[in-house]
Amino acid sequence: MKKKGRMLVIDDEPSMQEVLKKLLNDDGYEVAVASSGKEGLHKLEQSGYDLVICDVMMPDMNGLQTLEEIKRLAPEQMVIMITAYGSVEDAVSSIKSGAFDYITRPYKNEAVLNAVQRAVRQRSLIEENINLRNILKKYRFENMVGKNKKMQDMFKLTLQVAPSKSTVLIEGESGTGKELVATAIHQNSPRASKSFVVVNCGTVPADLLESNLFGHVKGAFTGAISSKKGLFEIADGGSIFFDEIGNINLETQAKLLRVIQEKKFMRLGGVDNIQVDVRIIAATNKKLKEIMERGEFREDLFYRLNVINIPLPPLRERKDDIPLLVSHFLQKYCEENKKKLCNITPEAMAYLESYHWPGNVRELQNIIERAVVLATTDIIGKELLPDYIINPAVSLNFPVQFPSNSLSFKEMVHEFERKLILNSLKMANGVQKKAAELLKINPTTFSEMLKRLNIANK
Ligand SMILES: Nc1ncnc2c1ncn2[C@@H]1O[C@H](COP(=O)(O)OP(=O)(O)OP(=O)(O)O)[C@@H](O)[C@H]1O
Ligand SMILES: [Mg+2]
Repeated sequence: MKKKGRMLVIDDEPSMQEVLKKLLNDDGYEVAVASSGKEGLHKLEQSGYDLVICDVMMPDMNGLQTLEEIKRLAPEQMVIMITAYGSVEDAVSSIKSGAFDYITRPYKNEAVLNAVQRAVRQRSLIEENINLRNILKKYRFENMVGKNKKMQDMFKLTLQVAPSKSTVLIEGESGTGKELVATAIHQNSPRASKSFVVVNCGTVPADLLESNLFGHVKGAFTGAISSKKGLFEIADGGSIFFDEIGNINLETQAKLLRVIQEKKFMRLGGVDNIQVDVRIIAATNKKLKEIMERGEFREDLFYRLNVINIPLPPLRERKDDIPLLVSHFLQKYCEENKKKLCNITPEAMAYLESYHWPGNVRELQNIIERAVVLATTDIIGKELLPDYIINPAVSLNFPVQFPSNSLSFKEMVHEFERKLILNSLKMANGVQKKAAELLKINPTTFSEMLKRLNIANK
């Protein structure tokens, strides 16, 4: 049978060593013993232990000195101290010096086993988090993290296209990292030392957008008291990033097309052509092709922008990246908030992995930031996650196309009932009684419905 963990008991009294050794052996742990702090330290140097249990009262090097030395050599080592009855001072010093817990003599076996179990669990939690941080190092690209195949392919493509001058169109839902990709392209291009100008097409009114982009000459419009350079001129030699390009109107699209084709433009109100050398990167969270098909986006501009297309998958399609992203954001926000590096419990991680992330990476990032700020220890458990992550509401989309030219009203209702039943069974892990409760119907009616709707449970 696999042992539950390896323990090292440091105690100068052989009888105490024996008692602890037997207790822990019986509970499935592997136990080594040392009779002094010095011997204990030597054993620790030789091999690793999940937990050290150390008596405070020992001749020569006492328990507290031993603890300090252990923590100096291996700050992450889990240690439980055994203190004498009534010695509050030792207990306080132990915790201050980094012990995980202390047990006061005389102790009950149960108290020892409880403390040991908690320490071992904590240790494996820390180990998992350390492991994750090590894996993370391999999967970083610029400011991005991703080990999912689609992300790895995307990193490769980004590096491949970066050195060229080709126009790039980045497509992805909100919060998937489009701006990070655009930045990475610029950073890996020969233009990296020149400006990277971001133009947010979503929030700026059309005429302001044009004067921002192309600049204006003195007197071009009321209030134009002097001439002004536009963003294209500022980005000369560098890159310009059009965020939410799907929002620009047809008139501005025509002007943009001209810049792309002829590499020149005029300031508003001006007569001189201005020549620029700018690499264009665009992003959209809407399907540009669909906007184009509706006649709201110029076809010629679409093809000019879409020379290289970089699709960014939504987070729900790359859930294997969630643990790495969590670990990345934990490090980021612990550092920013000057907190000790936080570890996340497997339970909290499981909740994060099962959520569907409509707001993608940005939403995950915000949730981790919140958890780190609210945390009072260095452990992030599920209680630090928002309620909607722990109890996600099930949204029931209509299961059939409506209006339907093939299904009758009765058939549509039938489909909807089926969907309700299937969802409730899923939420109740297949337990019919629980599923019936969720639907607020009695179990007999529920099981009749299963038959009528021809649903096989399990
Ligand atoms: N792969 C990733 N690794 C690390 N951080 C990421 C990753 N993807 C996104 N982020 C972070 O998530 C946030 C959103 O990213 P970004 O602003 O690039 O998304 P976006 O697609 O431009 O979103 P929007 O359409 O809403 O503008 C940023 O703070 C970014 O740092
Ligand atoms: Mg963005």
